[in-house]
Amino acid sequence: MTSQDVYPTDMQSSQPDSAPAAEAAASAFVAYLRHLHQTYLPLREGRVANYIPELAKMNSDWFSICVATVDGQVYEVGDSSQTFTLQSISKVFVHGLALEDHGRDYLLTRVGVEPTGEAFNAIILDERSKRPYNPMVNAGAIATTSLIKGSGPTERLNRMLSMFRRYIGHDIFVDMPTFLSERVTGHRNRGMAHLMLNFGMIDPPLDEALDLYFQQCSVLVNCRDLAIMAATLANHGINPLTGEQAVNPCYIRDMLSVMYTCGMYNFAGEWAYTVGIPAKSGVCGGIIAVVPHQFAIAVFSPPLDERGNSVRGVKVCEEISQHYDLHLFDSSMGCQTFLQRLTQPGERF
Ligand code: DON
Repeated sequence: MTSQDVYPTDMQSSQPDSAPAAEAAASAFVAYLRHLHQTYLPLREGRVANYIPELAKMNSDWFSICVATVDGQVYEVGDSSQTFTLQSISKVFVHGLALEDHGRDYLLTRVGVEPTGEAFNAIILDERSKRPYNPMVNAGAIATTSLIKGSGPTERLNRMLSMFRRYIGHDIFVDMPTFLSERVTGHRNRGMAHLMLNFGMIDPPLDEALDLYFQQCSVLVNCRDLAIMAATLANHGINPLTGEQAVNPCYIRDMLSVMYTCGMYNFAGEWAYTVGIPAKSGVCGGIIAVVPHQFAIAVFSPPLDERGNSVRGVKVCEEISQHYDLHLFDSSMGCQTFLQRLTQPGERF
């Protein structure tokens, strides 16, 4: 075990003889995560995002993997306390808030649920309906964000931060340099917002909607936070550490469906085919992946492939999915769950 590896809190605090089998299984699982970390750390593919100047300051060696289960176990390896900004991962959670604010039917009149097969920042709307394609690409996310309720920009921002706080379980902040950097360089996003205003898909004032969108992208988190947020989605919207209901459970289905089909941009089809679980990436190099009712994986590593997904993040998720037969349509699923394997004496990873 290195100084960066962290065992689940309740495992650390338990007496040596209180749960030796569970402890051994946990330590074997951390060893497995450490093995993945060591395998992929030397990988030098991909490039750190630089189209937003603040993001270019990230170190391409930052790398962490965290797994959080629905019963509150958290396993961490690597730089799990290194902070970075949520970026597009925020889109999943703001989608949930918009669903709570307006309901499924109304939201569908403003944002579709179709994958685009295009880059995340493509300037396209559905020809017929004039809606942006889905809430996971920039156009759809800006439209979704513009629907967050509140009497003014401050209340809308506070409602959004409270929502993130419920998922993460502690106070969170917007990184001001990233927000300002996004705001001064976000011409493409402004262009999309104007196009959607033209078609009546978003309402003025555009600057307020765009600021809120740039703020959600600039929320500071670490990899452990990401794992807890994603595990909350796996756990019917209940934060597994605090027990707080972060989102109405009736919308988890909508959120995960859209993540599954659209969360990895123009890699979404291949991801669904090979990894087979709902996921979302962001240009800071974060990826969350959710195994409903069981656990969630979060990976952070800034170098991105040409589609904007973390290179190491994709590799790690592919490996874990294959190792544990996590694909939702894998015939071996259901025989034995990840949680059962994790607590089984003698389990080898
Ligand atoms: O709109 C943008 O350009 C960013 N703030 C968010 C983009 C993002 O993370 C897309 N992801 N892969």
